[in-house]
Amino acid sequence: MDNLPRPFLTTQVSLTQPLGESLVAKPEIRHAGIVDVTFGENVTVVQPVNLFGCTIGGGSFVGPFVEIQKGVTIGKRCRIQSHSFICELVTIGDDCFISHGAMFINDPFVTGRPAAERGLWRETKVGNQVSIGTNATILPVTICDGAVIGAGAVVTDDITQPGVYVTNPARLLRSLSRSGDSTAINRGCPRYLFSDI
Ligand SMILES: CC(C)(COP(=O)(O)OP(=O)(O)OC[C@H]1O[C@@H](n2cnc3c(N)ncnc32)[C@H](O)[C@@H]1OP(=O)(O)O)[C@@H](O)C(=O)NCCC(=O)NCCS
Repeated sequence: MDNLPRPFLTTQVSLTQPLGESLVAKPEIRHAGIVDVTFGENVTVVQPVNLFGCTIGGGSFVGPFVEIQKGVTIGKRCRIQSHSFICELVTIGDDCFISHGAMFINDPFVTGRPAAERGLWRETKVGNQVSIGTNATILPVTICDGAVIGAGAVVTDDITQPGVYVTNPARLLRSLSRSGDSTAINRGCPRYLFSDI
């Protein structure tokens, strides 16, 4: 052991063993889980998740390592892919796809730091048939039906016309038909967005 380079030296210390003058503190351990959630019919959830005080519509899927907070409503037939974070004050419509690691924000730090008052938080409304790509970040905005948010985009403003939006800050790459023109939507929202992953 003593011959090992210093970064590899390890010491087994129990949580209450004296370490010099001080004690190694025991942390408060809280557990993630599913608490006070209203589910529609035929919802699938892959543990571990942290879901509390939210509503998840029928036919939806929630992948592992997802957190959905109090007051959030997810519509019907949505897919919430692994590692995404949906905070308080977010509402998501029907038939939406929220990809892996998509992040929502409700506290825009209006005072230049995290707000102590929830009154300074802002809401986000996502319409129906919206697809949000992997690792996208959604600030408090409204997103209209049929929008596609590219992977890694940062949405800072309301999206009011169906289209494909990319980059930081998110900008329109191209429009999609409001009438649900399937050719346009299939181009903007590749079929794999809806595959079973
Ligand atoms: C945004 C998206 C839907 C666009 O797809 P597309 O219409 O086929 O776009 P193209 O690949 O033809 O790219 C068009 C242009 O946009 C750029 N672009 C595409 N996606 C981008 C993205 N996410 N961020 C930044 N720029 C992007 C391309 O580089 C290209 O630029 P150029 O014209 O200067 O070469 C797609 O790229 C995307 O990000 N999909 C999300 C996928 C995802 O997260 N899936 C999750 C399940 S695995």
